[in-house]
Amino acid sequence: MTGAAGFIGSAVARRLRRDGVRVIAVDTLGYAGHRRTIEASLDPARDHFVQADIADGRAMQELLTRFAPDAVFHLAAETHVDRSIDGPLPFVATNVLGTATLFEACRAYRDALSEDRRAAFRILHISTDEVFGVAPTGGRFGAHDPHRPNSPYAASKSASDQLARAWGRTFGLPIITTNCCNNYGPFQFPEKLIPLTIRRALAGQELRVYGAGDQERDWLYVDDHADALIRAWQVGTSGAVYLIGSREERQNLQVVEAICAALDQRTPWLAPHRRLIRHVTDRPAHDQRYAVEIAPTAVALRWTATTPFAVGLQRTIDWYLDNGAWCDVVTAGRYDGARLGLAEVA
Ligand SMILES: NC(=O)c1ccc[n+]([C@@H]2O[C@H](COP(=O)([O-])OP(=O)(O)OC[C@H]3O[C@@H](n4cnc5c(N)ncnc54)[C@H](O)[C@@H]3O)[C@@H](O)[C@H]2O)c1
Repeated sequence: MTGAAGFIGSAVARRLRRDGVRVIAVDTLGYAGHRRTIEASLDPARDHFVQADIADGRAMQELLTRFAPDAVFHLAAETHVDRSIDGPLPFVATNVLGTATLFEACRAYRDALSEDRRAAFRILHISTDEVFGVAPTGGRFGAHDPHRPNSPYAASKSASDQLARAWGRTFGLPIITTNCCNNYGPFQFPEKLIPLTIRRALAGQELRVYGAGDQERDWLYVDDHADALIRAWQVGTSGAVYLIGSREERQNLQVVEAICAALDQRTPWLAPHRRLIRHVTDRPAHDQRYAVEIAPTAVALRWTATTPFAVGLQRTIDWYLDNGAWCDVVTAGRYDGARLGLAEVA
């Protein structure tokens, strides 16, 4: 698994650990991935962690040969839209070139497998609903709708999805692509909306809301996403694209207000937390709405999200309240909570 020290990768690792599946975890341990997360997620008696870059083709080939996996879950990526505005090239380097390099290593590995093992081998390419761009009011994108990405992050993920398609079509590489909505839950680096808001509210710092805060996202609890990915591995069709979501659509301001209301109960001495909300200049090219059609995935994978937003948010807030030490360690010297992604719009 690539990106195993990050938010979603580590959730998948914990799910696989529960299911008794051995995980070989690969990660550069960049700013968003931390050894602490690996330690909390892998089984030290069975799993194995390797610090490596997916853009290093030789390292990827050696790993595949050495550990001979049945499947590759590809989650390594640069993932923060704001950072892609400040510096887009690392997104191209990892998400595009890194993904192509990994696919090439997988192709050489697949070619050397016995017939039986080759038939069972799968690559799960994990992507985002942001590749489709802005969803029209009331409409939802389908798996084969054209991509219209608006941020460098979304463009780099769209490019990686095209590589997955081309490597499947041209080389017969057995790739399953998934495009998922916004995730939330434990172990998310506190630069993204939900953990950042929780952390800043607990510190009595202002809670930045971009523009009017009326941008709409579908929110999926990370363990539900992990379950969907494991289902896609188990019963998904090679070459298919599965859209994943939970139909828990909320405007960003509603999410921030829900966190404030929950914290008013948990830390009443800081209430009302909503006094900390500040509307700030919007992010350039901020997409108003994401929405994908999830019914075909529910049928094909026999999977639906089971965690209502209110339950998942409460669980997430509890986790961040209990794990301030994790937050301090993973952010130390890496991120101080400052506003990112304020490039001038031409
Ligand atoms: N977080 C979401 O809401 C969301 C939604 C849909 C899809 N996704 C996708 O899911 C995947 C995982 O996202 P996440 O939220 O866990 O991200 P994350 O930023 O928390 O984790 C990414 C991990 O990849 C590692 N990494 C980065 N570059 C690497 C490289 N070159 N080689 C090896 N490792 C590298 C990082 O160190 C980090 O541990 C990404 O592909 C992302 O596009 C995320």
